[in-house]
Order: sequence, then structure tokens, then C-alpha cells
Amino acid sequence: MDISAQRATRLGQGAALRVLADLIFVNSALIVAFALHFFYLITTRIEADSSSLFWRHAQGLVSCVWILDLTCLVLLSVSGFYSVGGHLRGRYKTLVGIQAVSIAYLLFGLASYALTDFPKIPAAVWICAWGLTAILMVLDRLWARLWGNAVHQSSAHRRVRPEDGRGRVLVIGGAGYIGSALLPKLLEKGYSVRLFDMLLYGTEPVEGILSHPGLELVQADFRHIDRVVEAMRDVDVVIHLGAIVGDPACALDEELTIEVNLMATRMIAEVAKGYGVQRFIFASTCSVYGASDELLDEGSALNPVSLYARSKIASEKVLMSLADPYFAPACLRFGTIFGLSGRTRFDLVVNLLAAKAVLDGEITVFGSDQWRPFLHVDDAAHSVLLTLEAPLAVTRNQVFNVGFDEQNYTLGQVAQLIQAQVPRARIVNHGHDSDRRNYRVDFRKIRSVLGFVPSFTLAQGIAQVVQAIQRGEVTDYRDSKYSNVKVLSEEGASRLVLGQNGWAYELIREAAPTPA
Ligand SMILES: NC(=O)c1ccc[n+]([C@@H]2O[C@H](COP(=O)([O-])OP(=O)(O)OC[C@H]3O[C@@H](n4cnc5c(N)ncnc54)[C@H](O)[C@@H]3O)[C@@H](O)[C@H]2O)c1
Repeated sequence: MDISAQRATRLGQGAALRVLADLIFVNSALIVAFALHFFYLITTRIEADSSSLFWRHAQGLVSCVWILDLTCLVLLSVSGFYSVGGHLRGRYKTLVGIQAVSIAYLLFGLASYALTDFPKIPAAVWICAWGLTAILMVLDRLWARLWGNAVHQSSAHRRVRPEDGRGRVLVIGGAGYIGSALLPKLLEKGYSVRLFDMLLYGTEPVEGILSHPGLELVQADFRHIDRVVEAMRDVDVVIHLGAIVGDPACALDEELTIEVNLMATRMIAEVAKGYGVQRFIFASTCSVYGASDELLDEGSALNPVSLYARSKIASEKVLMSLADPYFAPACLRFGTIFGLSGRTRFDLVVNLLAAKAVLDGEITVFGSDQWRPFLHVDDAAHSVLLTLEAPLAVTRNQVFNVGFDEQNYTLGQVAQLIQAQVPRARIVNHGHDSDRRNYRVDFRKIRSVLGFVPSFTLAQGIAQVVQAIQRGEVTDYRDSKYSNVKVLSEEGASRLVLGQNGWAYELIREAAPTPA
């Protein structure tokens, strides 16, 4: 049975149980009201013959109970109380239920007095039964709430610290630049890691850990809900790094970018929420600040200048709108990353300029007065780990800029830092850049709340890249495997397009007539 059919069956069963519960409330209220009335008449000696009184009450009960049951059920369902998918919620739903039941009792009372052939029961009995039914409905609501909280808390508790180790972390898009730095750290700490990635940039970034017993690989497109649902099983935390990353890569195909970066994020979060996964860590970017001359903190106005940044703003918004006591997203706005990892990218300014300096003897700078905050890839991975291990109350629904105040540099300063390590390279200034990004970011929040202190300075990261190139570990920084936009404009984008709709193309191919 598919997921929507299962959901419809579950909702149908829920409505049937609700009907049963309401019948029990009305009938119990009537029985108790008749019993109270009976004992009142006997103890106050208004009636002496208890046996005849008992039988009269029993007859009264039998004659009226089915009418009240039926009227209550009809009015409750007309009010939408049992509608599958339930648009009525919480306190409002209880009020609507009490209103429907009250109308049913009033109609019964009126009919009982106005119609001669209608069953007669003492006014005290139906008024008492009316009150009791309302009380039972309120108690039922309170119980459902307390029970729901208890179940959620116990499952949330189980999820944060399962007995069999440090918990299972689903890392979506974990075979990329940041993911390949993060995964070894998670495994070292004893987490079970489920890596969900379609390996757009190959297996090379995670080659060294593929045989680790704590790692499971799900090679799939994260827009496929069935694969996401399957991968979410027994997961304690979700870290969502997967995206089309970077302004040029996102500009290749706007529709695809929105699907991958935004729509899939929403679907993944909803699945996580459905599974009761509370901790959801989302990779956002400081690019959301776009172009600004201010020092920008998490509350500053956003001024995105690309679809990439807009897709991240929209994703943050979607995640925060899904937040509730059982779903606690945290968004990490990383600065511009530099340094080496399992998948070093050379489409990012520091790595690219360092490589050009060593291999071409030139450091070409566009827009040398534009500010950017820089962050080493290992520190980015460390910030994810800190977020994962911080008390949930501290990260719940929070946005953190990830970086270091002292690592805001202009692109001109970056060029000088590189030249200091590769003195023979000359700086070539090309004036203004088409990339209008310019932002200086305040990182006090992550430092004070999570105690985040990066371990690499920009100069250390440049040294790391320069030495790797000098050792011959990277010979051609222009190779498309180092650049998101190059991979995606070659075969990556078509893999993504086919990845989503491949089944349809396959069926169409199969349906083509076979040549006679
Ligand atoms: N690198 C940076 O400078 C930087 C800066 C700020 C924010 N970020 C954010 O950090 C996250 C990781 O960045 P990165 O540099 O590691 O990116 P990356 O491009 O190196 O890795 C992205 C990963 O996502 C996977 N992926 C993409 N679409 C997929 C799909 N539909 N199904 C399955 N897998 C898919 C790719 O295979 C890849 O392994 C991204 O969300 C990015 O926006 C990165």
C-alpha cells in the first residue's frame, strides 16, 4: 500500500475510534445521570418503591439513548468533527464538539416537552447528562494532549541517546565539500552515519570511509520521497547539506534549483517531522546577506543577489514554519569555505586564487574591495558537530552565522595574504565583478551560544592549499570535478533532471512501437 493510502486508512480508523468514543461518552453520561437521579429520589425518600423506580428509569434510558446517540453523531459529523484529514484542531475542535452535543441535548429536551409521543425523561436527568457529556469531552481532549506529550517525549528521549551507541545521523548531501570533512568526524565520535547522496561528484570524496562499519550509503536523489522515507527510518538527527551549491551552478536551471534546494528541503523536513526526528540541522549560507555595507548579524535585513541565496532564505523560512515542540530546526549560515577536504572545490575564491598563484603565477582579483567572511571546511564541519551535540533548547529554531569575526576580509586582502605565501605571483586587479556580493558578518552568537572557535585562520588554510598544490596533489585546478558549475553544465544537470523524471522517460521509451 502506498503512503497516501496508508495515511487515509489511518485517518479512517482514527475517525471510527472517535465515533466510538463519543458514543461511549453520551451513553455513560446518560447512565450516570439516571443513576444519580435514582439515588437522589431514594435517599431523599421522594420515591419509596425502589424497584419500580429502577425499572422506570431503565425504560427511560432505553427509550432515549438511541435518539440522543443518533442526534449527537449526526450533529458532530455535520460540524466536521469526523472529517478525514481534520481541519478542526485542538481547543477549537473540543468547542465545536461541545456545541454539537449541546444542540443535540437541547433538541431532545424540546422534542420531549413539545411532542406527546416522544420519550419522556426527567429534565434533571438530561441536563445532568448534557453537562457530563461536555465534561467527558474536555477530559478526553486533556488526556489526548497529555498522552501525546508523554509519547513524543519518550520517543524524543530515545532518539537523542539510543542505547546502542551515539545515535544514527542521516547526512543528506554528505559526499560533497563540507560533508566529506564532516563524515569522518561523526564516525570517529561513534555515531552511526547514513549518508544519502546521489554522488554527483563521484565516490572519491568518501572513498576512504566507504567500508567503515558505522557508515551506510544510500545512493539516491533526495527529491524521491520514497527513498527519503526509507532512509529516515531509525534516524535520530538529520543534517541536510545537499543542494545545488553556488550562484553560477544555481543559475544554470532555475526550476531545477528551486526543486532541489527548496522543494526537496521542505519534503525532507516533513518526512523527518513525521518520523518524530526533532533535531534538523540545515546548511544555509552567509550569501543570504547579499550586498550590504553594515556589519551583519542573524537579525539583519537580508539582501540576496542570487537565486542560490534566495533558495536558502526560502528554505530557512519553510523550516521555521514547520517548527513545533517536536521539530527543532537549526540553520547554519556558513561563510565562504576554504581549505582541503575529501572533495576540495576550486570554484571558491580562496582555493581558486591560491591555485592560480602557484600554478599560473597570477592572482586575478575581481571586486577587490568586496567583503566576505571566510571559514575553513574543517571548522564548518566542526560547527555542525557542535550544533548536533548542544542541548536542544539552545539550538531549537535558531539561525547561526558560522565563522569568525577576525576572518572577514576583502578580496583584495585575500590576494595579499596569498601573495605573502607565493611571493612570485603577481596580483592582477580586474576592477568590478559581476558578483555583487559584499558582506561583513558578526559571529558573536555562535561563539557565545555554542562556544564555536575556528581552528584554522585564513593564512593557515591558504598554506594548506598552496602546499597541496606544490606537492603535486592537485595538478589541474581547472578540472571540472573541482567545480560545481562545470560538473552540472556537463552531465550533472542532466543526471539531476533524469534522476527526478527518469522513470517517466523509461516508460515512454518502453511504450514506443517495436519496428516490424
Ligand atoms: N562551500 C561553501 O562555501 C558553502 C558556503 C555556505 C553554505 N554552504 C552550504 O553547505 C552545503 C554543502 O556545501 P558543499 O560545498 O559541501 O556542496 P557540494 O556541492 O560539494 O555538495 C553537495 C552534495 O549534495 C549532493 N546532491 C545535490 N543534489 C542532490 C540530490 N538531488 N540528491 C542527492 N544528492 C544531491 C551532491 O552529490 C553533493 O555530494 C550546501 O547546502 C551549501 O549551500 C556551502
